[in-house]
Amino acid sequence: MILGATGSIGRQAIEVAERLGRPVVALGARRGSARLMELAERFPEARIVAAAPTNEEHALLTARFGRRYDRGPSALEDLARIPSIVVNGIVGSAGLEASVAALDSGNRLALANKESLVAGGPVVLKAAARGGGEIVPVDSEHSALFQCLHGEEPASVSRLVLTASGGPFRERLDLSEVTLDEALAHPTWDMGPRITIDSSTLMNKAFEVIEAHLLFGIAYDAIDVVVHPQSIVHSMVEFTDGSTKAHLGEPDMRVPIQYAVTFPDREPGGEPFDWSNRTLTFEKPDRERFPLLGLGYDAGRAGGSAPATLNAADEIAVQAFIDGRISYGMIARIVEMALERMGVQAIESVADVLGIDTESRNVASEIVGSC
Ligand SMILES: NC(=O)c1ccc[n+]([C@@H]2O[C@H](COP(=O)([O-])OP(=O)(O)OC[C@H]3O[C@@H](n4cnc5c(N)ncnc54)[C@H](OP(=O)(O)O)[C@@H]3O)[C@@H](O)[C@H]2O)c1
Repeated sequence: MILGATGSIGRQAIEVAERLGRPVVALGARRGSARLMELAERFPEARIVAAAPTNEEHALLTARFGRRYDRGPSALEDLARIPSIVVNGIVGSAGLEASVAALDSGNRLALANKESLVAGGPVVLKAAARGGGEIVPVDSEHSALFQCLHGEEPASVSRLVLTASGGPFRERLDLSEVTLDEALAHPTWDMGPRITIDSSTLMNKAFEVIEAHLLFGIAYDAIDVVVHPQSIVHSMVEFTDGSTKAHLGEPDMRVPIQYAVTFPDREPGGEPFDWSNRTLTFEKPDRERFPLLGLGYDAGRAGGSAPATLNAADEIAVQAFIDGRISYGMIARIVEMALERMGVQAIESVADVLGIDTESRNVASEIVGSC
């Protein structure tokens, strides 16, 4: 099943399913777009859900697909309960309920939607423990760590090292005049707009630090970030005996998506890697120019509702930048102010997470409005 089927991860998950000859049992997206319709035609056995179609789209989907189609967030949640491997490629905290439903139902969750974990970490992990579902990460860095850690004793792990491409502004000193087109021009990965902008601010890397802490139970002090502009080393694990394991490959999301589906097995699919004339470089991230990385560590360490606020405020700020309502430099400032205003509260349930998410969005929107 592919949720977020019309997006960048969704498109690549479909390619993987077709390559592996696996059935696609269901497809979910937000709108009833032409792309969703086309996929519904291509996979006649699949159930279809649009979480928030327009009335016109809803009428069209109903007429064309009848009972195969349903709408609304709760229909999406029901979809995630169908016994299957659930690829969650929804963007934003809208993916949380589907992640929880999949895990609660004992499904494997091939998780690209990092916001589920960042915003609702304890709730998502509780659902996995309760329902017996397993999370296999799709994010390339976490897939790399997952593979490096496989078969290793937790006590022998001394440090996780997440690699970051550094984004399009790695060498640009003045970020005050950054335009939307510049922020959307990722040097190595072709992704949806939010994650592309989050990569340029290093917010995405901060989310990944929180995601790694939750997925692998490693303390924040033992998770580092290193800038690696070639995006060939996807991440590394250091062990207490002085060894380091790294996962390498071309930047191609189909590889971690496929592994999340076939784990613990491997199936053919990738291209041979050309090792000749490769230079791999590593440098420290510049935390002054990219303050969201440090804010992410702080929010992760604070725990409770802070990561949910971090995510929600960033989503609002990034959208405001995309809409031309704020400058690039204001994204970090808005997130910082929202974190200060919201403080830290305990979260126990999906409802708590969604409540914090809404409140944080409102606070961030107010701050945007006053800019
Ligand atoms: N792209 C990558 O290479 C990559 C790599 C690692 C991790 N990720 C993570 O994967 C997730 C998806 O990223 P992406 O780049 O594929 O994003 P994207 O291209 O923007 O696609 C987003 C998908 O989510 C759907 N969606 C949005 N809001 C929804 C809602 N309320 N309910 C249901 N579906 C909704 C969209 O449907 P509509 O088309 O109908 O709006 C679309 O199918 C993000 O969490 C991202 O951080 C992506």
